[in-house]
Amino acid sequence: MKRLSILGSTGSIGVQALEVVRAHPDAFQVVALAAGGRLDLLTEQVLEFRPHLVSVGTREGAQALEERLRAFPVKICYGEEGLAEAAAYSEAQLTLLAVVGAAGLTPAIAAVRAGKDLALATKEALVMAGALLTAEAAARGVKLLPVDSEHSAIFQCLEGGGRAALKRIILTASGGALRYVPKERLASVTPEEALNHPTWNMGKKITIDSATLMNKGLEVIEARWLFDIDVKHVDVIIHPQSIVHSLIEYVDGSVLAQLSPPDMRLPILYALSYPDRLANAFPTLDLVHVASLTFEPIDRERFPCLEYAYQAVQMGGTAPAVLNAANEVAVELFLGGEISFGQIPQVIEAGLRAHRPGDGGNLDEILAADREIRDYLSHTYRGKVNQGS
Ligand SMILES: NC(=O)c1ccc[n+]([C@@H]2O[C@H](COP(=O)([O-])OP(=O)(O)OC[C@H]3O[C@@H](n4cnc5c(N)ncnc54)[C@H](OP(=O)(O)O)[C@@H]3O)[C@@H](O)[C@H]2O)c1
Repeated sequence: MKRLSILGSTGSIGVQALEVVRAHPDAFQVVALAAGGRLDLLTEQVLEFRPHLVSVGTREGAQALEERLRAFPVKICYGEEGLAEAAAYSEAQLTLLAVVGAAGLTPAIAAVRAGKDLALATKEALVMAGALLTAEAAARGVKLLPVDSEHSAIFQCLEGGGRAALKRIILTASGGALRYVPKERLASVTPEEALNHPTWNMGKKITIDSATLMNKGLEVIEARWLFDIDVKHVDVIIHPQSIVHSLIEYVDGSVLAQLSPPDMRLPILYALSYPDRLANAFPTLDLVHVASLTFEPIDRERFPCLEYAYQAVQMGGTAPAVLNAANEVAVELFLGGEISFGQIPQVIEAGLRAHRPGDGGNLDEILAADREIRDYLSHTYRGKVNQGS
């Protein structure tokens, strides 16, 4: 029985992780949960999974939860400290990090420092502080287990031939909701259009990142750290069916891929059960039904965000943290109707240009760069509604 702490339990990944736990009651026990503001769902989760610790976003949220769970033996905490406490909870063996964005960095570090294996859905933590997080994990013998379907695919393929003979990683991208929207219309698409993902049902932020392909850019950086590979050996191709989750090429020219239906419960299950594989009743792959698997090159002009991600990781130091912060601000402004879709890359580029990168050697420096660029971009763009593209 593996004891789990699940952070971001009310989100898309968190809910699916709890489905995995529900389907394997003999394999997993939930000892801690953490979420932000969705208290109704969190209350249901506490009553069903009976964790010993639960964290919510705010003090008011914690008070409201206490009211609801008065007769229930659970410790309730809140805020950044609560999230870090849940991440490092003494009873947990493995922490699943599935909060969205930069909020995941501090709990990721807390989990690793407490010696918890870390199943990582929150790619932003690795993007911001890949060197720090991987070094801390290595020093403590902590496993970083990918939840992203692409990185889970690469991780699984590498189990065959090992890291030493790896030549190239090929990440697949669905192309997002706007894949077939003509280039000249892209600048003016609405949040509703960009949120309408063809193959995956995910949280809002990652769905917008998929439409801009920044999600793939963040994944390139994630691959750099998870698999210790120079990004010049990480390629991206479009694969609209989301069946081949990624591929690796070995030095002898052999290419391995991992295939499964587009269902996040599978990579979540493997990250939680690793190194074991557990039988399950989730839908299986029927290739005859899928009929055809297609692949297309990326149009880099259409997707400038991907290029910025390559640039940021090559700049190194605090630049990827700045890229991430600028992207989070841009997505928020777009969803709030304050900038157009076409302005998202402009905000990111402005963020990268405004920042003088430091070496990013410690958490404080990374968090300071994150804050500085958020302040700068919010000040520059907020309240200047849709001034063209
Ligand atoms: N969804 C996918 O299929 C998928 C696939 C691969 C990777 N990922 C990655 O997984 C992460 C989560 O994505 P998602 O789609 O599951 O997002 P989501 O649906 O928006 O859920 C985010 C979760 O984080 C919680 N949260 C947000 N800010 C928080 C804070 N400051 N403190 C505590 N909890 C906080 C939310 O709580 P409340 O809702 O209660 O406020 C919610 O439980 C992202 O980094 C994403 O890139 C997602």
